[in-house]
Amino acid sequence: MSSRIIPVLPFDYVVFGATGDLTSRKLIPALYHRFRDGQFDERSRVIGVSRTKWDDDKMRQVARESVLKYVPEEYRDDATIDLFVSCFSYIPNDVTDQDGWAELRAALRDDAGIVRAFYLAVAPSVFAPICNYLSQMDYARRDSRVVLEKPLGHDLESSIQINDAVARVFNEDQVYRIDHYLGKETVQNLLALRFANMLFEPIWNSAHIDHIQITVAESIGTGGRAYYDQSGALRDMVQNHLLQLLCLVAMEPPATSEANALRDEKLKVLRALKPIAEDDVARKTVRGQYVGVKSDTTSVPGYVEELADGGPSTTETFVAIKAEIENWRWQGVPFYLRTGKRMARQVSEIVVQFRSIPHSIFDHAEGRPRPNRMVIRLQPDEAVRLFLMIKDPGPGGMRLRQVPLNLSFAETFEARTPEAYERLLLDVIRGNQTLFMRRDELEAAWRWIDPIRHAWDDSADPVPGYTVGTWGPTGAIALIERDGRTWHEAHDDANPF
Ligand code: BG6
Repeated sequence: MSSRIIPVLPFDYVVFGATGDLTSRKLIPALYHRFRDGQFDERSRVIGVSRTKWDDDKMRQVARESVLKYVPEEYRDDATIDLFVSCFSYIPNDVTDQDGWAELRAALRDDAGIVRAFYLAVAPSVFAPICNYLSQMDYARRDSRVVLEKPLGHDLESSIQINDAVARVFNEDQVYRIDHYLGKETVQNLLALRFANMLFEPIWNSAHIDHIQITVAESIGTGGRAYYDQSGALRDMVQNHLLQLLCLVAMEPPATSEANALRDEKLKVLRALKPIAEDDVARKTVRGQYVGVKSDTTSVPGYVEELADGGPSTTETFVAIKAEIENWRWQGVPFYLRTGKRMARQVSEIVVQFRSIPHSIFDHAEGRPRPNRMVIRLQPDEAVRLFLMIKDPGPGGMRLRQVPLNLSFAETFEARTPEAYERLLLDVIRGNQTLFMRRDELEAAWRWIDPIRHAWDDSADPVPGYTVGTWGPTGAIALIERDGRTWHEAHDDANPF
């Protein structure tokens, strides 16, 4: 595959929360890859800001360690790493305190040809003070950009407060709300698949599609993260990643690929989501919490055992929802969403289940034509599989069989699949908001999520457990089987029924 590297303008990227895990695990390795590919050079600067008393040398050492740890050896060389880490500097600054801001002022270059971006990888409670200081000290120019990391609130009300605080300083066209799923190659590929092919769009509707499944299953646990216990899978995964995937699958074709054209269409989907009323929550949603196993040969802790205080906790680590979109295209087509930690395996995929053919010309002995199914595997082993009926090759008369047309990205393309943050970090510098959530999208997503959360919070029912290494609580199976359908499990690829 040929890749096109278009250099960006030099930048000053100020990263608040630079000592955090996200910076070393995701941001630094992503920037390294872009630097190594020549997309930016040492005229650009990354200025780390945090309360911890680091200096420039310590920041560069952390950047170097992060590259050594998270970038595969084949992409590393000393000369490139030396140049790359020379872009980094550090300013110790308690962002809620006026001192320290002057030093940042001195580090920022006023040259109009240098793009200025502020990356807020900090708790949303300090978004407002940071934005206020940036404004007071006149650091936020009209062309500056601000990048917001999740969680962007814990419900509609808190997300409005966060957005209001940011909007007092930055216009919406300067705000980049990260949902890193939008930066994933295969997620962007959904747009290509749907809108760069003639094949699918005419049948992408309720006349031809029976239902859609979106699964984001993780095999890892939460590791007792305190943040997760406040949040749970509904807020952590469904409100953002799963709903964004649903939007990309369900939206009408935008007129252009311009950011607002696309975001307008996603917003229409979110607004057309049928609200799940409180008395419907038990029927249309399932939550669960993983339970550990202990035997002579295995021992995996459950969710509460991993918590520092040992629980108890009613936080859900699994969610399944039957979502419906009330519009012309999707009337009567359920979207089954499912996500969880410590599930049977790590797999994210979108399954488009087509309807049965209206009439079969084949007799019973020849086999029953099975409905087509398209499986878009987002990770790992990115692929698109289209299950078709064919004649079983060879003698023996007509016998029908279902086989996948398999487009495996690893087999087809030689290039490395870039990490989501590589694309997103530089889209900020390019000023391209296409893969970022607009304020109204975020708020529409919360508006749909909040009643589910409230119903769960009000419910006296215990959170069902599911054993680690399974596909979630039995209620999730019942959710879909009640409708006469089944979940497409990853290991079923050869025989999807
Ligand atoms: C994050 C969630 O947004 O996405 C994590 O906070 C989750 O809990 C992660 O593990 C999953 O991302 P990915 O890219 O590994 O699928």
